[in-house]
Amino acid sequence: MTTAHLTVDRAFTVAEVPHRLFGSFVEHMGRCVYTGIHEPGHPQADSRGFRQDVMQLVRELGPTVVRYPGGNFVSGYRWEDGVGPVEDRPVRIDGAWHTVETNAFGLHEFVDWAREADVEIMEAINLGTRGVEEARALVEYANHPHGTYWSDLRRKNGAATGTTQDPFDIKLWCLGNELDGPWQIGHKTADEYGRLAQESAKAMKLVDPDIELVAVGSSNRRMPTFGSWEHTVLSHTYEEVDYISMHAYYQEHDGDAASFLAEAVDMDAFIDGVVSTIDAVKAAGKHSKQVDISFDEWNVWYQSGLDTEDQPHQVAKGWQKHPRLIEDAYNVTDAVVVGTLLHSLLRHGDRVKIANQAQLVNVIAPIRSEEDGPAWRQSIFWPFARIAAKARGQIMRLAVDSEQVPTQKFGDVDAVDATVTWDEAAGKLVLFVANRGLEEAADVDLNLNGLQATAISSAEVLAVPERGDRLTANLVDSQDAVGLKPLTDVGLQDGRLHMTLPAMSWGVVELDVAAA
Ligand code: AHR
Repeated sequence: MTTAHLTVDRAFTVAEVPHRLFGSFVEHMGRCVYTGIHEPGHPQADSRGFRQDVMQLVRELGPTVVRYPGGNFVSGYRWEDGVGPVEDRPVRIDGAWHTVETNAFGLHEFVDWAREADVEIMEAINLGTRGVEEARALVEYANHPHGTYWSDLRRKNGAATGTTQDPFDIKLWCLGNELDGPWQIGHKTADEYGRLAQESAKAMKLVDPDIELVAVGSSNRRMPTFGSWEHTVLSHTYEEVDYISMHAYYQEHDGDAASFLAEAVDMDAFIDGVVSTIDAVKAAGKHSKQVDISFDEWNVWYQSGLDTEDQPHQVAKGWQKHPRLIEDAYNVTDAVVVGTLLHSLLRHGDRVKIANQAQLVNVIAPIRSEEDGPAWRQSIFWPFARIAAKARGQIMRLAVDSEQVPTQKFGDVDAVDATVTWDEAAGKLVLFVANRGLEEAADVDLNLNGLQATAISSAEVLAVPERGDRLTANLVDSQDAVGLKPLTDVGLQDGRLHMTLPAMSWGVVELDVAAA
């Protein structure tokens, strides 16, 4: 048994839980849109083709904001192809994923879908093959009330397709996607991108001064230009943008589960590095405003060994419509890692204000669906759903005194990784906690300074199921193999919370608290 002592003090908080930290991502890639959220003719589809079984799971997952329409896809996308009468929309080649895009689903459909799902839209523009003119036209099309060419076209297209005609009122915009990557259509140097992003941002804000903009940061921490890319891009755009993006995907390499379980250490360091770069540009440029982080792609992703440096993604063979692409089946280990990645995002809630798990359905996603078939929750659904539902109020600074576990990649790391939120108005304190030890259970206690815990209102844990192992996953014929169960070994003693967490598990404990 390993042990860990955790301490919170009501005087030490990090930040208010950012509402947009529980975002997701819908890309025109593989089966995320087609046969994912949209499948006309499916028994569960409504008259617009929106799958209601998937919609119900999306609501249960609880994303607050959804990035759309890409990803790599957006860098070759013409948004005009996806509006107007469906029968008039062109069928195009999507170079990013080597697929055929029918454009049967476009911006109006996504706005209607997002409104029903009760999520904010985060719209990405194409700064790969396009530029300032198309960017400002899109903002005018989306947000201008009426009486101009683009806004009246929106109303006409809405009327023609039975979708919304009202202004979409999209506040949050991404200035392109991963343009530092040689695989990206329209890949650019930091200077080329920085200037284009600055001028696009200026033009977009002239159309709608209330929008918020995300500049493209590095595609991952291993990029050779990581650091200098952010510095150069922000040196051009600091006054125009509100956020810089981060992307990170993690996977287990060669059975090294211990290092994989500790990847939140990497995420912590990655975020700290980007914060330092932002603040260096701020100081050197004598800026007073603060730019924050949009971690707009993160997840576990088993990237294929066949990928090369120039094309680090699997692409489809031939030219198919919505082929199966990167439909990773997530296991227990992945769910524990996803829990700890969410802890890392919360720990940095003072600077990470937006985060999007990539993606929402089928493509490296918490939700799976089959064409003409069922929809179900993957293992990684559970930590996301619980944290999105329960993390409220203040993120607390947490002192962790934990026994260590050895890892090849990071050396010794804390066996127990955790974060705490405290909602004073509701009188709730929630502990999100993972035991990264592969073999041993963990004895964990939480000491609350300045707060009095009166009751445990709920306690759940996700661990290796009785009939399974750490690689057990929820598949089409075993949809509930991995999930949350009541945590029974938990109690309050002298105002302290005590629990025993099984080896390699993720848990959530909610307490009723009052000021001591
Ligand atoms: O989410 C899958 C892909 O990963 C996105 O299209 C791209 O931005 C990233 O490299």
